[in-house]
Amino acid sequence: MTLSIDGERLYAALASLGQIGAYVDETTGLRGVDRLALTDADGEGRRHVVARMKALGLDVSVDRIGNVFGRRAGTDERLAPVVLGSHIDSVPTAGVFDGCLGVLGGLEIVETLNQARRATRRPIVVAFFTDEEGCRFGTDMLGSAVATGRIALEDAYRLRDADGLVVRDELARIGFLGDIPPSPAGCRDRPHVYLECHIEQGPILRAAGDDIGVVTGVQSISWQELTIAGTYAHAGTTPMSLRADAGVAASRINLHLRDMIASDRYGALRATVGVMTLHPGLVNIVPGRVRLTVDLRNPDDASMHRAEDDLAAFLRVVERDERVTITARQTARTPHVPFDREVQARIAARAAARGLRHAAIMSGAGHDAQELARVARAGMIFVPGEHDGISHNPRELSTRDQCARGVDVLLDVALSFADEGGTP
Ligand code: GLV
Ligand code: MN
Ligand code: MN
Repeated sequence: MTLSIDGERLYAALASLGQIGAYVDETTGLRGVDRLALTDADGEGRRHVVARMKALGLDVSVDRIGNVFGRRAGTDERLAPVVLGSHIDSVPTAGVFDGCLGVLGGLEIVETLNQARRATRRPIVVAFFTDEEGCRFGTDMLGSAVATGRIALEDAYRLRDADGLVVRDELARIGFLGDIPPSPAGCRDRPHVYLECHIEQGPILRAAGDDIGVVTGVQSISWQELTIAGTYAHAGTTPMSLRADAGVAASRINLHLRDMIASDRYGALRATVGVMTLHPGLVNIVPGRVRLTVDLRNPDDASMHRAEDDLAAFLRVVERDERVTITARQTARTPHVPFDREVQARIAARAAARGLRHAAIMSGAGHDAQELARVARAGMIFVPGEHDGISHNPRELSTRDQCARGVDVLLDVALSFADEGGTP
């Protein structure tokens, strides 16, 4: 008999977690979610999900970077677990789906299996990883990157937010500085497979009428923080020829990124200046300092390197022309990560078996699955989003049925791996 999850219950769980950190968006009047990593709201969200894990009979553990694992025993506990995960932290202007679908979807699967008294050969672990978004401490996928060895625990602990608060203290403050070593599955084993169901966060699946995205991989991500130092000056009295305007330098960099994309020399490059903070930020003062962030994405590693190199060269041009100094700090950097072909094939086959339309798709956003792919077979299932797939925004919306279809496929694929024997 084919088991199916309860879409209504899943949607209610998303709404319920979405109450934590809820706020009313000033510009749209819509309700959004602000559960920035390691804030009080994140702590409350974590406790809410841990309570549900315990109510489902899962054995809960927390590692030293605050990743949380809920384990359902398998009939053969010597075998490595199937891990279903994602994140529950959010950007400060989020909807209720990003990350939470993968975590609550995993718990919905556990509840479905419990109700059906369906045992699995391998354990199933539902995990949520610390600070996937990276908005507070400057680097994304922090918990999963520590769990899989890309970032050292001590380096992660030292990361600071804008108020100078550090990760380790904030983990302790919200009660999630765990005691087991960071690990991808909450135990000594590597995952047998890692599976993540997530909203697409883009327009492609919805426009094509597809139900399921079989994610082929995640494109390369490069984040830099630039500090531009010019000369503070009076806006009325300082001749234009004598200025070293950090704001003009910042604007040139932003526009240059657009020119780089228009040149077609960098493949499918995407570039965003999301932060441009002018100091002192007053109407009649030439800004003497600017903090600016650059987010580059590219499915092709060679094109990404070329874009980074050419941007660095342009910064030297701006320094000369505008008489400013620019310091660049790389805050996050990940290459293109392809997902396991066998996992992709199983997702496509299980979607087809349920009569769902599916298509291969490259992820535009970063995800914990790309970190887990370093240590285990990994794959992702995308579900479509309404409103052109808008995300990181209160308008983010995937319908109950869109979510349920994704988690049904997650269930099928998880069972196919969880019933497998073989080497651990
Ligand atoms: C994560 O949400 C990202 O910025 O890709
Ligand atoms: Mn996400
Ligand atoms: Mn996100």
